[in-house]
Amino acid sequence: MKSLKTLFLLAMLMTLAISVPAISPESEEPKWKNRFLSERVLLTCDKYPKVCHIKGSAGSDCCMNKCVNMSTDISNCGKCGKKCSYGKICCQGKCVNPQTNEKHCGKCGNKCNAQSSCIYGMCSYA
Ligand SMILES: *[C@@H]1O[C@H](CO)[C@@H](O)[C@H](O)[C@H]1NC(C)=O
Repeated sequence: MKSLKTLFLLAMLMTLAISVPAISPESEEPKWKNRFLSERVLLTCDKYPKVCHIKGSAGSDCCMNKCVNMSTDISNCGKCGKKCSYGKICCQGKCVNPQTNEKHCGKCGNKCNAQSSCIYGMCSYA
């Protein structure tokens, strides 16, 4: 009778020991899954352009088998392989100089108002 109790306790302990580690991999699963998916995206977007539309993708466009965002990617600005020259950034698919561009002053979408101009990446009143 006593040994049966011990056996039961042992079984309980084993169940606990099994269920505890089973919880932690579960909480890490989404991360692992995303990494797995993005690696697959890199490998297959030439064949399956739709993979670039999944959540966590770098962008919805496929260039050279890589998911990119052509509206902001300085190596694929507006179209695949279009590189922006040194010092320029890609805004809405166009290479612009953020130091002087009045619509993208300092960063994409930072528009200077009519009285100011973009000087060294800042909207300044001259
Ligand atoms: C591409 O970049 C633009 C500007 O940052 C952003 O609005 C858009 O959501 C991005 N698209 C994707 C698919 O990440």
